[in-house]
Amino acid sequence: MERSLVLVKPDGVQRALVGEIIARLERRGLRLAGAKFMQVSTALAEEHYAEHQGKPFYNGLVEYITSAPVMAMAWEGPNAVAAIRQTMGATRPTEAAPGTIRHDFGLEVGRNLTHASDKPETGEREVALWFKAEELVSWNRDIDKWVFEGK
Ligand code: RTP
Ligand code: MG
Repeated sequence: MERSLVLVKPDGVQRALVGEIIARLERRGLRLAGAKFMQVSTALAEEHYAEHQGKPFYNGLVEYITSAPVMAMAWEGPNAVAAIRQTMGATRPTEAAPGTIRHDFGLEVGRNLTHASDKPETGEREVALWFKAEELVSWNRDIDKWVFEGK
C-alpha cells in the first residue's frame, strides 16, 4: 500500500476548496490516514521544498506555502502516488487535463492549489516529515474490499 502526502495549499484553503479536494480523493477510493490543519513554519517549508532551493521560483514558493494555513493529509491506497498526481493534474494548470483539480480550479503555476508526493519513496519521506507516528491512523475501511482488489 502506497502513501502520499497531500497538501491543500493556502490558495485552496482561502478559496474554501478543502472539502472539494477531500471529496475527490475519497470518491477515487483512496483512504485517509492522517490530517491536520496547520500554519507551515519557514523551517518546514524549506525542508519540504529543499529540492527546489536555488531555483528562481523558490523564494516565492516558500512565501506561498507559509502565507496562510494549509490542510496537510496522508492518503493511502494501491498506486496512491500515481492516482493522486493524476487527480491533481499537471503542475501548470493550463497544461492540466480537464477534470483534474488544477485544471478545474486553477490558472497559474504559483497558485496551483495542491501538493502531492511525486514517487512512493517521496511519499514515505514526506509523510514522515509532516506527521508524527501517533498522528497517523492504521485502519481497515468497510468498503476496502470493494475498492482494493485482493483485500
Ligand atoms: P507539488 O510538488 O506541489 O505537488 O507540484 P509538482 O510536483 O507538480 O511540481 P514541482 O516541480 O515539485 O514544483 C513544486 C511547486 O513549485 C511551484 N512551481 N512554480 N514558477 C514556476 O515555474 C514554478 N514551478 C514550480 C508550484 O507551486 C509547484 O507545485
Ligand atoms: Mg513536486
